[in-house]
Amino acid sequence: MKIDGTPYRSVWVDADGWSVRILDQTKLPWQLDILRLTDAAQAAHAIRTMQVRGAPLIGAVAAYGVALALRADASTEALDRAVAMLGETRPTAINLRWALDRMRARLHNLPADQRVAAAYAEAQAIADDDAETCRRIGEHGLPLLREIAARKPGETVNVLTHCNAGWLATVDYGTALSPIYQAHDAGIPIHVWVDETRPRNQGAALTAFELGKHGVRHTVVADNAGGHLMQHGEVDICITGTDRVTRQGDVANKIGTYLKALAARDNGVPFWVALPHSTIDWRVADGVLEIPIEERSQAEVTDLTGRTADGRLETVRVAAEGSPAANPAFDVTPARLVTGLITERGRCDASEAGLRGLYPETP
Ligand code: MRU
Repeated sequence: MKIDGTPYRSVWVDADGWSVRILDQTKLPWQLDILRLTDAAQAAHAIRTMQVRGAPLIGAVAAYGVALALRADASTEALDRAVAMLGETRPTAINLRWALDRMRARLHNLPADQRVAAAYAEAQAIADDDAETCRRIGEHGLPLLREIAARKPGETVNVLTHCNAGWLATVDYGTALSPIYQAHDAGIPIHVWVDETRPRNQGAALTAFELGKHGVRHTVVADNAGGHLMQHGEVDICITGTDRVTRQGDVANKIGTYLKALAARDNGVPFWVALPHSTIDWRVADGVLEIPIEERSQAEVTDLTGRTADGRLETVRVAAEGSPAANPAFDVTPARLVTGLITERGRCDASEAGLRGLYPETP
């Protein structure tokens, strides 16, 4: 996707052919800082501190992290150490584990002198696969938006989304935002309600930034506004991304997603979830019981970061001094509240039968 006319992916290999470039998402939308990662520890740091975030993107960056590790030491011990270190960075998004398992399976049985080239090729394949997958998610989500547009000719299609599931959260195009970009490009009049997504404000900072750069009409709303908007007919459809979908179709996503799904059900608003194959955890059935939920720093809740009038980034405390905070970063929306899943292979029910219908090769 483009920022001010320049095409970007969210991760790429530098012109030197080996170091890895990322956009520092902790600085967006205020500054466009491109960081250079030169070892696996830097890749792990970028994932842990959310310089890169979003389920598919952290998988791709972890894959490049393995390649960086092997460049320094191509032994089996170094491979295992890198996979373990990168795998511990964030617990909820299954794409991280998926990418690391894929890297290990590809590299483990190779002679050491072939590993570095193979690691870069595999990481590149993961990144390219994610970009193409997300493009196709857009193609399969677009008909949903076309149907709504056809039901209300000349009127705007209003979508509500939570967190950031756009191109910044993937390698390119995004998951939830991919159909929105395609609808906008096809001339469908579309407007997006962007949940600010406290505590880290991925909606207000990143989704609003992306949509703005692409010229998509949008409005940032407080996280608690969604139910009110749905009661008043201001939302035609909710589309979110996800960090892990269980085989029975339960959906882990950014904290607050579950409440939007409840409000959508109460108001008869369809609630769709967009995901690539790498987000499905076939080993897990009950998402509420089985998906580990990341608990992040209290400071993300008690403090806010923004840009001052004179252009400095500043963090200020908004909670009462001395009050403790809790910060579960994700929640699980049970499959019964999900209208359906949008994947690169098509749409399906949020159920084991639905997922197996699209991925019949899965054991
Ligand atoms: O904590 P984050 O910013 O990594 O959480 C991201 C989300 O919850 C996204 O909605 C999810 O990863 C889907 S991304 C295509």
